[in-house]
Amino acid sequence: MDYRNGRGQDTSSVGPPQRPPSSFVEQANVTDEGIYEAFEENWPACWERAAALLEWDEAYDDVLDEEDAPFYEWFTGGKLNASYNCLDRHLEAGRKNHAAIIWEGKRGESQTYTYRELFVKVNEFAAALRDLGVEEDDVVTIYLPMIPELPIAMLACARIGAPHSVVFAGLSADALATRMDAADSEYLVTCDGYYRRGDAFNQLSKADNALLSLEQDVSTVVVDRLGEDLPHVLGDRQYDYHDLVAEHAGETVDPVSRGSEDMLFLMYTSGTTGKPKGVVHTTGGYLSYAAWTTRAVLDVEPNDTHWCSADIGWITGHTYIVYGPLALGTTTVMYEGTPDYPDRDRLWEIVDRNAVDVFYTAPTAVQAFMKWGEQYPNQHDLSSLRLLGTVGEPISPRPWRWYYEHIGDEECPIVDTWWQTETGGITVTTLPGIKSMKPGAAGPPLPGIDARVVDDDGESVSPGESGYLTLHRPWPGMARTLYDGDEQFVEEYWRQFSTPDDDEWVYFSGDAARIDDDDYITILGRVDDVINVAGHRLSTMEIESAILGVSGVAEAAVVGGNGGSSGTDVYAYVSTENGAEPGPSLAAAVTASIESAIGPIARPEEVVFTSELPKTRSGKIMRRLLEDIASDEELGDTSALRNPEIVGEIQAATRDE
Ligand code: PRX
Repeated sequence: MDYRNGRGQDTSSVGPPQRPPSSFVEQANVTDEGIYEAFEENWPACWERAAALLEWDEAYDDVLDEEDAPFYEWFTGGKLNASYNCLDRHLEAGRKNHAAIIWEGKRGESQTYTYRELFVKVNEFAAALRDLGVEEDDVVTIYLPMIPELPIAMLACARIGAPHSVVFAGLSADALATRMDAADSEYLVTCDGYYRRGDAFNQLSKADNALLSLEQDVSTVVVDRLGEDLPHVLGDRQYDYHDLVAEHAGETVDPVSRGSEDMLFLMYTSGTTGKPKGVVHTTGGYLSYAAWTTRAVLDVEPNDTHWCSADIGWITGHTYIVYGPLALGTTTVMYEGTPDYPDRDRLWEIVDRNAVDVFYTAPTAVQAFMKWGEQYPNQHDLSSLRLLGTVGEPISPRPWRWYYEHIGDEECPIVDTWWQTETGGITVTTLPGIKSMKPGAAGPPLPGIDARVVDDDGESVSPGESGYLTLHRPWPGMARTLYDGDEQFVEEYWRQFSTPDDDEWVYFSGDAARIDDDDYITILGRVDDVINVAGHRLSTMEIESAILGVSGVAEAAVVGGNGGSSGTDVYAYVSTENGAEPGPSLAAAVTASIESAIGPIARPEEVVFTSELPKTRSGKIMRRLLEDIASDEELGDTSALRNPEIVGEIQAATRDE
């Protein structure tokens, strides 16, 4: 691990500070600069502000219990239900006919669910799940694309106290099986298929294949999304979603009162090993934090139309499409399609038609918009927008400016939000009604968050220097543990910089960062074996193990690289066994194996064959060097290489592709 490995952007390129537009500041949810100090002085009781955004069945006794650190507990003794907080209470508050979800389908269709309608659907499906045998604490796996049944299923699970584990629909059968096996999940909600650029794509066959390798018996609910376009036959223990719901039409299910620390959901994410990690989020802390950050950072108000363009299959969609906005009683937009289909103005057409107030997306998307040109947003009225956000990767100043000018018309602040699956919600960014924005830097830690940049010894680095991004105090939205993996939880996040003997626990994010004298943090990228490709978090180890399963492959090293342009891609460096022929057919086998183990999102940009991988004298593969080569950058120090003669060959092979 070396923070100098962190890559993401040119660190010299942070733009000058810029005040948020005054028209925004005048109406912002949070404008009192004293909030930072107020949180400091009153920590951890300051977090009661987040808890107060929810309705509790039973009040909590303590804000924070640090007894078993780093297994922190928040709002202990409190009881609540997440589905009640996202639905019932809004009906009671007279908002029953307010739009909860606006769903925009891939084929131009659109559907609005009011809070009342969503309540009915969630209740009916909750009744159906119960009828299937789902009990409190059973893990229900949901393997659905961006269709309304996805949030409905999540909230139905939450209603009956069954943690959900949503698996991104684009992941492969093997990836689904690994996750269901790890969570010992006996229930699956999936669909027959979905449309991809107009074509019917079979999802059920992937789900069926996954179940073949599982030991447990699984009951599967299948949403019929495609009708006649992809007829399917249900097998044993498979149930049609619409039939099940029809059987329970009009039924209501009392929301199960869950302990604050009871699990709300599991989210598998890539780690530094080949095995995905099941990140555990709880009911009270996570939901409070989701609601608080949606309100304070994304500035969402109940009457807003909020659009986070992520996929619900990842944490961003969980927190900022489903739980945060619905907890606040706002209208959340959910989009099934891609930004360029049927044309490159699709997103702006949706913003215009729905008068979207807040738009939250990924820097890769902004870069694509910039490349396509301003004529697409210019075709639409975007004046409803009040705030813009980005998440998932660093955004460089140029696309930042483009977003600011051409989407926000210089009237919307941009929040560049740093966070992770494990943090549950946003932790580092500017509070948009208070802080200046610095294009390229995420911003200071949020009030109550103690984020620092430290060196190898855990000491804070000087302003302007790089180091590891660490969090030195717990926060309500934090992951509580890894599913069946308390030890791994400590090992992965808390070992590096904590001093348990002094009871000082420090969370390590896995990211490198730089901090300025005004506490603004610039994210430089991962320092572990995780790479971020178009907002998808991938483990190099997981991809490597898929490659090593291909016959003829001797060794493999996977790195993220940008080929000299913007955006990270997967580069696979492969050496072959004696007698195996490196060439297009082996490269195709490597790609196929990766897609089958993980999914098309991990498809390599290049498979580069080399007679040997670059190794240090101690036999470690020198990934930093491969990253430099893949990114077409000047090579760093290669003096530790045992086989320096190989470098030229690898460079030539990379450029040759
Ligand atoms: O490397 C950081 C990057 O995304 C990682 C977390 O990925 P994931 O758990 O999939 O969650 C993504 C969305 C919350 C981080 O370790 N990352 C996230 N936000 C930013 C970022 N890198 C730079 N700037 C950001 N704003």
